[in-house]
Amino acid sequence: MNTAHEHWGSRLGFILATAGSAVGLGNIWKFPYITGENGGAAFIIIYLGIVFTIGLSAMLAEITIGRIAQTDAIHAFRKIGKPGWSFVGVMGVITAVIILSFYSVVAGWCIAYVVKSAGGAFSGMDAEAIAGAFGTFVSSPLSPIVYHGIFAALTMAVVVAGVGGGIEKTSKVLMPLLFVMLIALAVRSVTLPGASKGLEFFLAPDFSAISAGTVMAALGQAFFSLSLGSAALLTYGSYVDKKTNLGKSVVQITFLDTLVAILAGLAILPAVFAFGMDPAAGPGLTFVTLPTVFNAMPGGYLFAIVFFVLLTIAALTSSISLLETVVSFFNNIGLSRRNATVGSGLLVFLLGIPSSLSVGIWSDIHFIKGQGFLDSASWMTDKLLLPVGGLLICVFTGWIIAPVAAKEVLGDGEPGILTRAWFIILRFVAPVAILLIILSGLEIIKF
Ligand code: TRP
Repeated sequence: MNTAHEHWGSRLGFILATAGSAVGLGNIWKFPYITGENGGAAFIIIYLGIVFTIGLSAMLAEITIGRIAQTDAIHAFRKIGKPGWSFVGVMGVITAVIILSFYSVVAGWCIAYVVKSAGGAFSGMDAEAIAGAFGTFVSSPLSPIVYHGIFAALTMAVVVAGVGGGIEKTSKVLMPLLFVMLIALAVRSVTLPGASKGLEFFLAPDFSAISAGTVMAALGQAFFSLSLGSAALLTYGSYVDKKTNLGKSVVQITFLDTLVAILAGLAILPAVFAFGMDPAAGPGLTFVTLPTVFNAMPGGYLFAIVFFVLLTIAALTSSISLLETVVSFFNNIGLSRRNATVGSGLLVFLLGIPSSLSVGIWSDIHFIKGQGFLDSASWMTDKLLLPVGGLLICVFTGWIIAPVAAKEVLGDGEPGILTRAWFIILRFVAPVAILLIILSGLEIIKF
């Protein structure tokens, strides 16, 4: 039934839940390896520049739309009086379903690695054996699907308990825990003998490594990491009460997301260097390189478990925001929260199955650009749906509802230089930058 729209219990709850959405596999798994592939510190500087201009502005826009509307992503645009834009909400909800389906599969691998590390499954193995074990595990037909199911069930258990009692409460426990674990790992890593080479790579910029491709990689990563463009932020914004200062909150959320990414880099890259492994190992950095590093590290048994628990927690606080985006809509068209959660959770679980099989027995079935189901789903959201969603949200806020948006952010305050900068970014800078990401992602233009 269309009961009263829920709200966060406190501003801290909102910040931690939204930071939880942003902090995910993107920060801990992707950021270190993308940094590794793009030359280290120079990439980070560009990334910071983008996050605190375009990223922050787009995040503020999406959350502002949600707070104005006080309803789910699909109903939001009609409620603001622009029903013609409802397709942006529809696209956002569909994007959330797709991301969640494969995100949950990879998060399932993380849970499996907690279990494997705790059971000593990798002990004594060299890098090659670990790579082999990873391949055997992800390509087996059943067990990754079971772990995917466990992760989906955990996500559903949080969402079914509601915004305040489920999402906010969980985030308030898990986010501080995540920080503590990450700091412990970073301290371990930077104090390893031989860590200084990794630190230098991470902190001393080599500007000759920067190209237009680096900038594109930074833009894409900023979008993914901040959870922009899939209506998850819009949904979380709709639970914010009218007293909360949105600008300040968004700065804090962006800061936390970036801090976690940097700490994850500090936890991973120095250790990778200390044991002479390749920092540009790509996606395998987490599931192959790191277990090898943990094997060689004093205390590695414990740190491996901590790391994979951390990864699972980061993934969980993101997946609940994706599921909530879908549930919020079904809830508003008359389903109870319980039925909406179980229904959309099952849908996501089923959609994840072909993703899981696509790295194993279905690896010969290709969809986009010769890629299997999982990589195609990830490609479609990364390269197309998220940036298009983000672009439309910037344009909508900057051009269509600018006075209403300004009032929502400023209250009775007078627009100053920051507000003007926000609108310049939303109207011109972000659309051009995002269009470039889309064109380069689709390989229509090459850098
Ligand atoms: N930000 C998440 C991460 O860093 C991934 C993500 C992208 C996401 N879009 C999202 C999470 C939308 C929740 C909602 O891993």
